Amino acid sequence: MSNNLVIAQVTDMHIGPSNVSYRNINARQQFLDVLQEIVKEPLDLLVLSGDLAAIDGEPETYAWIRQTLLTFPCPYLVMAGNHDHVMRMKSAFDLPESDISNGMLYFSRNIKGRRLLFLDSSPYQVSKQQLEWLNEQLTESNEPVLLFIHHPPLKCGCQFMDDHHALQNIDDVWEVLDQHSHVKHIFCGHYHTEKTVTKNGKSIYLTPSTVFQIDTENYHFSIDHIKPGWRIIEWKGTQVHSKVEYSEKIIEE
Ligand SMILES: [Fe+2]
Repeated sequence: MSNNLVIAQVTDMHIGPSNVSYRNINARQQFLDVLQEIVKEPLDLLVLSGDLAAIDGEPETYAWIRQTLLTFPCPYLVMAGNHDHVMRMKSAFDLPESDISNGMLYFSRNIKGRRLLFLDSSPYQVSKQQLEWLNEQLTESNEPVLLFIHHPPLKCGCQFMDDHHALQNIDDVWEVLDQHSHVKHIFCGHYHTEKTVTKNGKSIYLTPSTVFQIDTENYHFSIDHIKPGWRIIEWKGTQVHSKVEYSEKIIEE
């Protein structure tokens, strides 16, 4: 059997507790539209990489997402963003105890013999405890690995987000990353834009949101466009490729 791995990364859905629109955008419908598109791919895994909830980990949001994904034809994993609430996610998605430690949702998975690591940057930091775990995980094996973090672990040339919403302990994260050359691909959300930034031999991929994208040139918050986006990651043989796609179907109310 081939061990090619195809992952859809869907992020920053900001789904509210009810089906109301925000800035004329229906976040639930846009998420449903994205699911309809990605289901056409031969997916092994769907990763929801944080900020599932609109503001502050609304339980109704998680219940709706879980219900919505009941019929989705491949497994999915949830990560925490700064608008999420780990313990509410735990109960809503019935997350394994072993994926949560001291209120942080970080874990590893091995799918088709491929290693995936997931961190929790929801408090705008990757904690010391997680960085020690990451270092252990990366020291244990030199096998290639994909790393997922909600916050990009560097400034990305996106004015508003870099100035106001960047990860706070970037240097601590690189102290670990720089010791491990086999981490070459890091997938993030949070910035509501599409971009790839490279640093020290690693590619950091920013994946657009399903609700709106933020203008990267503006020092103030400004929406670039509201086409919902996502990323398809293909890991074939030794090669990792990814592409961002957008739905043209825009719901305005
Ligand atoms: Fe975020």
